[in-house]
Amino acid sequence: MTYVNLMGYDIEPETMVLINAWAVGWDPAYWSEPEKFMPERFLDSSVDFRGFDFQLMGGRRVCPGLGFGVSSIEHIVANLMHKFDWALPDGAKGEELDMMERPGFSIARKNPLIVVATQCYIC
Ligand code: HEM
Repeated sequence: MTYVNLMGYDIEPETMVLINAWAVGWDPAYWSEPEKFMPERFLDSSVDFRGFDFQLMGGRRVCPGLGFGVSSIEHIVANLMHKFDWALPDGAKGEELDMMERPGFSIARKNPLIVVATQCYIC
């Protein structure tokens, strides 16, 4: 039988492994002052809330206002879409847009979307 060794434990195939998500968010080995509300801890970090980083699977570090925050950002983006005309840089066509995806819990762009905004005078 092929086992997976996880932190010194041999785990048989098809074993259900339960993760203590609470402990992940409170572990001082990974978070400085884990009990503190300190959003700036993420400023120079590559941790991403969209489901690619397992540190954010639950517990203290996950923002309960996430849904509200993300939908507010959608509102701002919708206004920007409405008030500006958008094009790809250097006159590139839509079919040339890089649509590469990166894997994770959910799908997101592999590379950043770069677009040029022009003020829309009739909007
Ligand atoms: C785009 C908007 C928002 C961003 C970027 C954001 C970001 C964050 C971050 C990074 C943390 C973790 C802080 C830490 O590790 O110390 C956090 C926690 C928290 N956020 Fe937000 N947040 C947003 C919106 C909101 C909203 C709208 C609410 C409430 C209505 C909210 C309530 C909270 C609370 C109560 C915590 C602490 C959770 C805990 O300690 O268990 N956030 N937020």
